[in-house]
Amino acid sequence: MLGSGLAVWLALIFSMKTTADILILGGGVIGLAIALELKLQGASVAVLCRQFEEAASQAAAGMLAPQAEGIPPGAMRELCIRSRDLYPEWIQKLESISGQTTDYWACGIMAPAYCQADFPHAVTQWQTATAIHQQQPNLSDEVIGGWWFPEDAQVDSRKLARSLWLAVQELGVTIDSGVTVQEIVRQADRVTHLRTSDGDYQAAHYILATGSWSQDLLPIPVVPRKGQMMAVRVPDPTQLPLQTVLFGSESYIVPRQDGRIVIGATSENVGFLPGNTPAGMQQLMRRATRLVPAIANYTIEEFWYGFRPATPDEWPLLGTSAYENLTLATGHYRNGILLTPITGQIIANWVLRQEADAVLNAFHWSRFTA
Ligand code: FAD
Ligand code: GLY
Repeated sequence: MLGSGLAVWLALIFSMKTTADILILGGGVIGLAIALELKLQGASVAVLCRQFEEAASQAAAGMLAPQAEGIPPGAMRELCIRSRDLYPEWIQKLESISGQTTDYWACGIMAPAYCQADFPHAVTQWQTATAIHQQQPNLSDEVIGGWWFPEDAQVDSRKLARSLWLAVQELGVTIDSGVTVQEIVRQADRVTHLRTSDGDYQAAHYILATGSWSQDLLPIPVVPRKGQMMAVRVPDPTQLPLQTVLFGSESYIVPRQDGRIVIGATSENVGFLPGNTPAGMQQLMRRATRLVPAIANYTIEEFWYGFRPATPDEWPLLGTSAYENLTLATGHYRNGILLTPITGQIIANWVLRQEADAVLNAFHWSRFTA
């Protein structure tokens, strides 16, 4: 007869799912990009994801905009620019594995202004009214000039998420979809296992990539910042009114090549309050039609919303945690789509070979503990 303690212990061990050496919590673009990189480097990896559709990754406009977003010089800007520069090659690799296009478009981003003070961070690249109206017809007469960021780009974030979802599975990563991680069970400085809606899971290493919901699992300062969005469609997709993303002072307008135009976004501190509101929609429509009056006559196609994972300093939490077998990759706030390739690369190199990228220190969670 086994001692009852040992029996319980064995029962626990045998009832645990051990699907892979590395378990990623969260199936948004961040979790999936890390899974992709780990798998390409030969690791055994699985993803647990509550719901693909609720991810911020599905709501995002998909701007790759380190310059247009006005990120001040420093580690965050450096990380964003490195990631933007990885995009073309990384997208090619991703699309060839998944067979699914992402509509990456190196279209540049224009920041039109109603007055010179509209954009505090840019010191160069000012375009006069004549130049900007010539480059991009259909702007409002109120636009007095603006800034042009030719290296910024865009991707269709829903297609990106789908492409990643397919690619990792193509490579043999298991995605357990519909599974909620309820608790990260810790003992001293280690994670012992995960308690989930589908029983217990165990792995050698865990990566937290649960975006806005990260605080449900760990006491880290990541909170939701809601963004409402809408899309219109131009009547004739062969006659696109916009050839570049417009990053206005009040709103942004992201034309896709198929004639859809994505308009964003509100920024609201309302927790996880769901739904689109008349006030949110009114704000988007008023601001977008002020910038491009023709939008008033296009067909409304869709309204939606999502939750940006925000940290107090608006920088992500990347790298080690208080637990030696738990790595953090969360809190990407307004730039998670942009930061997807670099996050995958940096986190995979850290987890597999303890290769610490020079910028990692700046993104360590302990900056909030002082
Ligand atoms: P998410 O995409 O939110 O994914 C988290 C996943 O974790 C979800 O699938 C969720 O179901 C799962 N999960 C959560 N909790 C659990 C749990 N307990 N158990 C199991 N699974 C769990 N970024 C840009 O770079 N450019 C943009 O133009 C841009 N526009 C945006 C516009 C809006 C309106 C919003 C909301 C965001 C925008 N962003 C943009 C930001 C970007 O979308 C996010 O930073 C990025 O998607 C974060 O990705 P993530 O994978 O960390 O989180
Ligand atoms: N980066 C755009 C947004 O978060 O709305």
